[in-house]
Amino acid sequence: MAPHPLPPLPRKRGEGKHRSVVRGSEGRDEVQGEGCLEDGLTLAPETKHERTEKQPPLKWAGGKRWLAPKLRATWARHDDRRFVEPFCGGLAVTLGLNPDRALLNDINAHVVNFYRWLQRGLTIGIPMRNEAELYYAHRAAFNDLITSGQEGSQRAAELFYYLNRTGYNGLCRFNRSGQYNVPFGRYKTINYRTDFTEYAPALKHWVFTAGDFIQLSLRDSDFIYADPPYDVEFVNYSKDGFGWPDQVRLASWLAEHPGPVLISNQATERIVKLYIQSGFDIRFTDAPRRISSSGDRTPAKEVLAARNLWKAVPGEDQCLGDGFAVSL
Ligand SMILES: C[S@@+](CC[C@H](N)C(=O)[O-])C[C@H]1O[C@@H](n2cnc3c(N)ncnc32)[C@H](O)[C@@H]1O
Repeated sequence: MAPHPLPPLPRKRGEGKHRSVVRGSEGRDEVQGEGCLEDGLTLAPETKHERTEKQPPLKWAGGKRWLAPKLRATWARHDDRRFVEPFCGGLAVTLGLNPDRALLNDINAHVVNFYRWLQRGLTIGIPMRNEAELYYAHRAAFNDLITSGQEGSQRAAELFYYLNRTGYNGLCRFNRSGQYNVPFGRYKTINYRTDFTEYAPALKHWVFTAGDFIQLSLRDSDFIYADPPYDVEFVNYSKDGFGWPDQVRLASWLAEHPGPVLISNQATERIVKLYIQSGFDIRFTDAPRRISSSGDRTPAKEVLAARNLWKAVPGEDQCLGDGFAVSL
């Protein structure tokens, strides 16, 4: 059903300059412009994006579904450009913005294979049940396909979806020999989807590649949204293989792009410094609560760094306040 526009919230002292509310795709109210992400552009009552938005089909660590509504107003001013996501992961942002043209990349070849089959209108024929025995049989079948070089097959895409829904915590983890090794999950119930044909029209015009971000062929006019694995402070080489040297080479790669660039990351002090020193404009927003290994549920600060995108708006540096101090 089409979302209904709501009247604007009354503005409180000290709030972001521009604030409007739309009925979110799940019937919740979403505040637009929090964290000063908007620059005066009010959304039309019903946008193309809200009408056609598809849910991300996979569970994905670090998925930014919550961020997509906040980026819509910015993207709306550039939506004639090609949208490039070098770390497309669970595809939450691209599906949330629904660009006409997109170049989407991830180093995980299995997730990219799944999207390539979605482009062809995937329907799933394998049995799918929330049972450990079936899970381990499907996991072994998936690993056999990898070993025999058939990881690009439809069967591999079907198994990948099932493992993603059924495995522990939506993790996607491989051992040193490239074998998927996530244990059975602990979900009470799982709703499996078998028909993905409704994704095909949106994904048909998007190009998917698998590899390191650096090998992407960019055009000067591309709009890049980069969402790399989070920086983990005080760690040089993270366990998921994207360490500090990768964050640094990403920042310099992005800084060379002449078109609009937006990057999100955990607002660690060194990430904020890195992007300020690379000539980016910096803003902050709250990421939803994530439970850390220590059980801490404090909302994480997310940094958004942009080049060739935001115009300076007087008074905007209030966004840097927001209870978050950066010492440079
Ligand atoms: C935070 S997730 C992206 C989430 C995505 N924006 C979403 O909303 O679902 C980061 C992604 O970067 C990918 N990745 C890690 N290292 C990479 C590299 N060197 N080049 C490209 N992708 C990489 C991971 O596989 C992961 O899917």
